[in-house]
Amino acid sequence: MRRLSGASFLLYILIPLLGPSNGADTWTLDHPLADDGQPLISERGSFALGFFSPSGSDSRYIGIWYHKISVQTVVWVANRQRPVTGSHGSLSVAANGTLIITGENSTVVWSSPPLALSDPVAQLLDDGNFVVTEADANASDPNSFAWQSFDYPTDTLLPGMKLGWNLTTGFNRPLTSWASAIDPAPGEYTFGIDLRGDPQVFEWSGTRQVWRGGPWNGVRFAGIPPMVSYNKISVQFFVDATQVVYVFHTIDASIVSRLVMNHSGTAQRLLWVDDSKFWNLIWYFPMDPCDTIFPCGPNAVCDTSRSPLCGCPQGFQPKNPTNWELRDGSDGCVRKTEVDCRNGTDGFVLVSGAKLPDTSSSTVEWVGTTLDQCKAKCLKNCSCTAYAQANISGSGSGCILWSTNLTDLRVYGSGGQDLYVRTAAADVGMYSSVSLSLDRWLREARSRRQLGAEAC
Ligand SMILES: *[C@@H]1O[C@H](CO)[C@@H](O)[C@H](O)[C@H]1NC(C)=O
Ligand SMILES: *[C@@H]1O[C@H](CO)[C@@H](O)[C@H](O)[C@H]1NC(C)=O
Ligand SMILES: *[C@@H]1O[C@H](CO)[C@@H](O)[C@H](O)[C@H]1NC(C)=O
Ligand SMILES: *[C@@H]1O[C@H](CO)[C@@H](O)[C@H](O)[C@H]1NC(C)=O
Ligand SMILES: *[C@@H]1O[C@H](CO)[C@@H](O)[C@H](O)[C@H]1NC(C)=O
Ligand SMILES: *[C@@H]1O[C@H](CO)[C@@H](O)[C@H](O)[C@H]1NC(C)=O
Ligand SMILES: *[C@@H]1O[C@H](CO)[C@@H](O)[C@H](O)[C@H]1NC(C)=O
Ligand SMILES: *[C@@H]1O[C@H](CO)[C@@H](O)[C@H](O)[C@H]1NC(C)=O
Ligand SMILES: *[C@@H]1O[C@H](CO)[C@@H](O)[C@H](O)[C@H]1NC(C)=O
Repeated sequence: MRRLSGASFLLYILIPLLGPSNGADTWTLDHPLADDGQPLISERGSFALGFFSPSGSDSRYIGIWYHKISVQTVVWVANRQRPVTGSHGSLSVAANGTLIITGENSTVVWSSPPLALSDPVAQLLDDGNFVVTEADANASDPNSFAWQSFDYPTDTLLPGMKLGWNLTTGFNRPLTSWASAIDPAPGEYTFGIDLRGDPQVFEWSGTRQVWRGGPWNGVRFAGIPPMVSYNKISVQFFVDATQVVYVFHTIDASIVSRLVMNHSGTAQRLLWVDDSKFWNLIWYFPMDPCDTIFPCGPNAVCDTSRSPLCGCPQGFQPKNPTNWELRDGSDGCVRKTEVDCRNGTDGFVLVSGAKLPDTSSSTVEWVGTTLDQCKAKCLKNCSCTAYAQANISGSGSGCILWSTNLTDLRVYGSGGQDLYVRTAAADVGMYSSVSLSLDRWLREARSRRQLGAEAC
């Protein structure tokens, strides 16, 4: 490796091998990465880093894209907010390791947080992570990264990237959509993890919740049933004292997959089909009318297989019957009979196939609680409104307890789980339709008329 001093920087951008025949496994640039130069290519050629313009734009950005994929697919952008115009752009590594992008007249348009390294090297790794380390560090060891692009995601999550929180530092890594197809500036939509209660995945528009991916249930996020339909991707969700993060890996290197928060507000899981040269959409969210946040109001159940969408669980009735009959379910449902804790007679009704309601103020225990113990806990505490198994993996374990009205509850044809809703004794076991709908009202009105007719 050669060391080269510039006027004010020591520069090394380390370019790993372009091909095995090159003989050496690394070499260095003796000048910054200029806009007219070659991009950096990762060791096994998976990713490239360099200047690009989104199609339809003249603005220049430093980005990372798949090197082997013919449809240029940008997965990371450095200077999202301040593009460079013309071909004056340049990326360099300062003597202390800080990355700097300059534009016309050497104006700094972007820099990484300041680093204090003595002998820095920047390297594009084959997983798409652009890292800065000390030259003598082990670049395979994540602890050696003084800075990494994986900590500053744009709109794309790649295998091995962590979405979510470092709790020690309070540092969060959400995805943020591009502003538009031609503008990688931070757009309207973010996708990330809300730490409150039992942590959940959310999509936000600004501070407004757009879609709730829900809590992790040991197998998938409660609101993303198709997550498990493709078994070539393994998913991990870590919740401990140091972090709350979501990470995925492909089980074999030939599979190229990414998760994107697209600029029109849809989270997409995509898979590259090399033979046909296109990105295949595995799933996307929000997907249907029940995915919109709270379409049916508190304690109501949204079900796309029914018309109307909104229903009340057994023991509940529409809070505002007039609007409910006009198919406005937003007021939700209220209990027919108040629960009576002192009596000790309350029971539970099962909502099966459920997307668990919002867990942002629920309590969760992951280990050592059976479903029966969970039920007993809920029954014992007067403010408990519902319970469910926290971890549905294997024979199931753990316990989630709600103490609020149940919001954003829906059911799925498949891929949901059991939710037990506290109900007064008077309403348990009693027959009750899930939905007091206009259709049913009409049906009932008709049968009343028929009965009336018969009586005549
Ligand atoms: C660069 O410097 C030239 C000459 O001083 C000036 O005309 C031009 O506006 C400058 N450009 C920027 C982007 O500052
Ligand atoms: C590292 O160098 C950059 C560019 O010279 C400078 O802006 C930054 O303050 C330096 N960082 C530290 C920690 O000294
Ligand atoms: C570099 O780090 C990786 C991952 O921590 C480890 O597996 C490997 O043995 C290390 N290599 C050296 C030479 O220390
Ligand atoms: C959190 O960030 C600190 C400081 O960068 C780092 O030392 C620590 O390893 C991180 N924790 C996790 C769990 O990544
Ligand atoms: C975002 O994803 C949705 C669902 O796949 C798609 O219909 C829409 O066209 C996408 N938007 C953009 C800008 O790609
Ligand atoms: C009952 O549940 C509420 C809300 O989860 C909690 O704050 C309270 O401590 C619980 N009470 C008992 C006695 O466990
Ligand atoms: C969920 O249960 C499975 C065993 O069935 C266990 O391997 C896994 O670690 C549990 N997940 C959590 C988050 O506790
Ligand atoms: C549920 O919502 C009703 C209003 O619809 C409110 O009066 C009640 O306090 C709420 N209950 C809980 C447990 O939050
Ligand atoms: C209290 O318990 C009795 C039976 O012991 C039952 O009939 C009554 O409905 C209960 N009260 C409520 C409010 O559930």
